[in-house]
Amino acid sequence: MPLLSKPYSLIVAAFLFGSAVAPLSAQKGTYDPAAVPRGKEAFGPACGFCHGLSARGGDGGPDLARSLFVMGDDHGKQLGEILKTGRNGMPAFPDLTPSQVSDMASFLHERVEAARARESATPPNIIVGDAKDGLAYFNGAGKCSGCHSATGDLKGIASRFEPVALQDRFLSPRAGGGRGGRGGGPNRAAKTVKVTPPNGPAVTGTLMSVSDFAVTLRESDGNRRTFTREGDVPKVEITDPLQAHYDLLRRITDKDIHNLTAYLVTLK
Ligand code: HEC
Ligand code: HEC
Repeated sequence: MPLLSKPYSLIVAAFLFGSAVAPLSAQKGTYDPAAVPRGKEAFGPACGFCHGLSARGGDGGPDLARSLFVMGDDHGKQLGEILKTGRNGMPAFPDLTPSQVSDMASFLHERVEAARARESATPPNIIVGDAKDGLAYFNGAGKCSGCHSATGDLKGIASRFEPVALQDRFLSPRAGGGRGGRGGGPNRAAKTVKVTPPNGPAVTGTLMSVSDFAVTLRESDGNRRTFTREGDVPKVEITDPLQAHYDLLRRITDKDIHNLTAYLVTLK
C-alpha cells in the first residue's frame, strides 16, 4: 500500500489549514468518540504487543494513556509524524492510512481522558523534575531562550498558571491563544501568510482561512482580503510561529518536560 505520502500530506495540510479557522476551543486533546472503537481495532494488532491492548503499556512500549506526547498531539498530527518515521525502540508504520492514524489518535486521546478521570480524585504532583536541569535545557538543548526569556515574556508565568496548566502551555501553546490572546497585542501564535499574485505586489497578513479555492488574510491595518486560488496561483506561503514547538514535541523526552516544568514554576 504505497498510500502514505500524498494522502498523508493532504491530511496534514487539511489539519494545519483547518486549525487556522477552527475556534480556539477545538484544540488538541479533543477526539471523535465515533472513531474510538475503530481506533482500538486498528491499534490492537499493530501496536498492542508493545503498548498493551488498552494502551496502558506492554512489552517494551510506554503507557500511552499517560504519555505527554499523546496529550500534546493535535488530532493525530504529531502521532502521524512519529508513526511515519518510527522512534528509538519503535518501528515505522509507513503503510497506515490517514484515517487509521486519525482513528488511533481518537482512541489514544480517549485513553488519556479516561486515565485523567481516574486520577482526578488524587491529582499527582507533576513537579517531579529538577529545576536546575530544566534551566540548562531551556538555555541549551531546548533552545527555548532563542525565543523566550525568563525576565521578558515568561516573567511571572508561574503566577498566572497552575503547574499543570503551565506545562500544558508549553506543550501546546495555541490552546490559550498566546499572550496576545489576553493582552490585546498581536497574537504571537497566529499563523501568517504571504500571498504573491502573478502581477501584483505581495500581500502579507494574519491567516484567517485557507482552502484549495481561496485564502483570506487580515493586513496589519485590520483590512481583510480574500484571494481566489487556482493551483499554484497566486503563490501562498504560510508561516506557523509554533512550528518550533511541534518540532520540539517530536524530540523532547518526558524527563526534559518534567525538568522544564520544575524550572518554569520558579518564574513567579
Ligand atoms: C516493537 C514495539 C512497538 C510497537 C509495535 C509500537 N510501538 Fe510505539 N513505542 C515503542 C517504544 C519502545 C516507544 C518509546 C520510544 C522512545 O522512547 O522514543 C514508543 C513510543 C510511542 C509513542 C510516544 C510515547 C511518548 O510518550 O513518547 C507513541 C504515541 C506510540 N509509540 C504509538 C504507537 C502506535 C500508535 C503504534 C502502532 C501503530 C505503536 N506505537 C507501535 C514501541 C513500539
Ligand atoms: C522559534 C521560537 C520558539 C522556540 C524555540 C520556543 N518557543 Fe515557546 N512559544 C513560541 C511562540 C511563538 C509561542 C506562542 C506565543 C506566546 O504565547 O507567547 C510560544 C509559547 C510558549 C509558552 C506559553 C506562553 C504563554 O504566555 O502562554 C511557553 C510556556 C513556552 N512557549 C515555552 C517554551 C519552552 C519551554 C521552549 C523550549 C523547550 C520553547 N517555548 C521554545 C515560540 C518559541
